[in-house]
Amino acid sequence: MSQVTQVPLGRAPVALAPTQPVSLNINGQAHTLHIAPWTTLLDALREYLDLTGTKKGCDHGQCGACTVLVDGKRINSCLSLAVTHEDSRIQTIEGLGTEGQLSPLQQAFIDHDAFQCGYCTPGQICSAQGLINEGKARTEAEVRELMSGNVCRCGAYSNILSAVMEVLNNEGLVLEEKAWSAGATTQDMAPVEPPKK
Ligand code: FES
Ligand code: FES
Repeated sequence: MSQVTQVPLGRAPVALAPTQPVSLNINGQAHTLHIAPWTTLLDALREYLDLTGTKKGCDHGQCGACTVLVDGKRINSCLSLAVTHEDSRIQTIEGLGTEGQLSPLQQAFIDHDAFQCGYCTPGQICSAQGLINEGKARTEAEVRELMSGNVCRCGAYSNILSAVMEVLNNEGLVLEEKAWSAGATTQDMAPVEPPKK
C-alpha cells in the first residue's frame, strides 16, 4: 500500500514526494537527510535539522534573512537546493560562535545595539562575515553597498554599520579616509550642498 499525505477534506490524497539521501556538513558536523530533491537549503536547515537561527523572510531571495556561508561565501539559502551542497562546508549563525564565546561580529552587534526585533540579525551577521571573508569592503560606503542585500525592517542600519566597521577596524581592514577618497566612487561622493536661498 502506498503512503499518502494528509490533505484537506474533499480532496484526493496525494502520494508522498520521493526522497533521496543527502549528506551535508553543517558547522563542522555531518548530517544525512532523506529529503525531496527540491528541498531548499533553508528548509533543510530549519525544518529537518532544527537549526532555526537562519530565518525565512521573503523566501524569494530579496531580504537576506536566510543568508548562510557556503565554503566561506554568503548565499541566500532560500534560493539554493540542499542537494547541490553535498561537498560544501556550510556555516550558519549557530556555527559562528557559542553563547560563552561569541564571534567578534556577534559581540559587536550587541555592543552597538545593532538589532531591534532581531529577525534579520542572523542573516546580517552571516552576510557581514562573508563580506569580511571577501576582503572587498574597506569603507563605510562599500560596507553599505555590499550589505545592501540584507534588509532590516526595523531600520537598525546605522548601528549595524557601526558594528561591522568596528570588526573591520579591529582586523585592520579599514582604509583611512584620505587613502580611499582619492579613488572614490559615486557612492563615496561628498554630501550634496543645500540649495541657495
Ligand atoms: S528568505 Fe531568502 S532572501 Fe528572503
Ligand atoms: S532588527 Fe528587526 S528586522 Fe532587523
